[in-house]
Amino acid sequence: ILNDLLCPSLVLLGEDRTCMPESFLNYAERIKNFEVKNDDVWIASYPKTGTTWAQEMVWMIANNVDLKTGEKSLNDRFPFLEESSLSDEKKMNLEPSEYRPDTYEVAKNMPSPRFIKTHLPFSLLPDQLKDGSKSPKIIYVSRNPKDACVSYYHHCGIFGGCRADLESFAKLYMAGKGVTYGCIWKHIFGYWERKNFLNILFIKYEEMKANLPVVIKRVAKFLEKKLTEEQIEVLTKHLSFESMKNNRAVNFESSLEKLRKSNLMVKDGAFIRSGVVGKYKEELSPETIKRFDEWIKKNVAGTSFEQEYD
Ligand code: A3P
Repeated sequence: ILNDLLCPSLVLLGEDRTCMPESFLNYAERIKNFEVKNDDVWIASYPKTGTTWAQEMVWMIANNVDLKTGEKSLNDRFPFLEESSLSDEKKMNLEPSEYRPDTYEVAKNMPSPRFIKTHLPFSLLPDQLKDGSKSPKIIYVSRNPKDACVSYYHHCGIFGGCRADLESFAKLYMAGKGVTYGCIWKHIFGYWERKNFLNILFIKYEEMKANLPVVIKRVAKFLEKKLTEEQIEVLTKHLSFESMKNNRAVNFESSLEKLRKSNLMVKDGAFIRSGVVGKYKEELSPETIKRFDEWIKKNVAGTSFEQEYD
């Protein structure tokens, strides 16, 4: 099991038998019954696909590029619905005053319009999203799985739980086993296959890297917001890798500081790490890249889903 040290056991849940931390079991029922609102804005994604980047973009677009209010932590502006169920802060030798609030409650009690992040696969979403009785706007972010896998490996390393080398991690990643949120393809297709039923916009990490202003305009249109050219320019700068890396509201440094303080961080590192397309080429062996390419080909064959796989 290659998981966060703070939640070392995984269970298989939902129709897709998705790997989730055992601690999620206490949360599953609450999430199933979570009350969705039509004016919510949700971001759904598989981990390490550029979620944080997209969250900051979406929040800024919806809030007229309000950089001042955006100084508040992204976790508060755009809570991660199931975050509290993924690890147990009580195991971190922190003072109770340092525990984060229950993220489910934070999301639930936010004034509308609420902004909610989730990594949950479609099968584990709240019933009101699954049955279509509520239809908030959903933005789904995806990324080349080879880069997402390498990014996930480094993420697990920082959070202290990865007991494997990258090559073994990649094997399990492709098998959808031993990693929280299971198989990336089941995740993507769980949403993609419902694109005519959900009010959903698909965006890709690689598109954001290639031409961020174009993606900003597409998302603004989806959110029914009008931004001036000047606002788009300011936002593009705000969302640059360097700017986000140095922005404490979005770079999760305060969470990482807690880990450092409790000696749970095995390998020092940053959440906003390298931000490069195709970085996997420097880290994965040629054999693993070949295996990845075959796996990708097999999974997208016969579907209409397109992603840059270079
Ligand atoms: P790398 O580890 O490849 O650098 P998530 O938010 O889903 O966990 O995704 C994290 C990934 O998004 C990390 O990828 C991180 O560096 C990258 N990222 C975050 N902000 C970014 C930005 N402004 N520009 C480019 N990449 C960014």
